[in-house]
Amino acid sequence: MNLILLGPPGVGKGTQAKLLIDRFGIPQISTGDILRAAVKDLTPMGVKAKGFMDSGALVPDEVVIGIVEERLAQADCVPGFVLDGFPRTVGQADALKGVLSRMGRGIDHVVSLSVDQKELLTRLTGRRACAKCGAVYHVEFAPSKVSGVCDACSGELYQREDDKEATILNRLKVYDEQTAPLISYYQECGLLRSVDGLGTVDGVQSAILSQIQG
Ligand code: AP5
Ligand code: MG
Repeated sequence: MNLILLGPPGVGKGTQAKLLIDRFGIPQISTGDILRAAVKDLTPMGVKAKGFMDSGALVPDEVVIGIVEERLAQADCVPGFVLDGFPRTVGQADALKGVLSRMGRGIDHVVSLSVDQKELLTRLTGRRACAKCGAVYHVEFAPSKVSGVCDACSGELYQREDDKEATILNRLKVYDEQTAPLISYYQECGLLRSVDGLGTVDGVQSAILSQIQG
């Protein structure tokens, strides 16, 4: 199963990707997670990416295309993959098509998640992540048992640098301008599966499954 999760910041791509990878036994490829790890490790790529990410802008296409091409070539991607947060521009989508066709592969479904902007802001401003294991929480919708402490590993919970309101608004603008055009791009390819992202996490997962297995 080769999947793309498409949708604005905070819509629940990462949350839904985690459930899909458990169900199908395939890896999640989140360019955001890979870039944040590079920023934390101060790699040359991370140093270059940090300014773009902190302002809510996109990292240049050639950087993220390189990341994904390298990742897709790894053995655990043979049974399938869930792309989370990639592609985000038409240039990235075209490049992905080329990379996959050279591998004799293709995309099965592009799941497009949507919720209204007010809900996106609530989800993003309330999100907390574990600094140690990366588990994602929400102060209201998915709180940890002890405030600020990860249930899974007792690591410290933190707020992402780009989850401050001013940066969120820029990320949403960048999404509308550069990523939303991919909805019609994939509709024209016959791959788009639209799913309402509002509702419980399990409810959204069921809606996704009925679109990709139905
Ligand atoms: P990235 O990390 O991909 O961020 P994003 O696309 O902005 O999306 P988020 O991770 O913020 O949201 P999500 O949809 O995963 O939501 P989540 O499941 O966490 O990218 C970050 C940056 O990296 C970019 O701005 C850019 O600079 C760079 N970058 C990455 N990829 C790139 C690319 N391809 N090209 C160029 N640059 C790139 O959920 C959010 C919150 O809501 C959580 O707290 C969660 O608990 C809660 N929640 C989830 N589902 C529900 C629900 N059903 N009900 C209630 N709450 C829910
Ligand atoms: Mg995410």
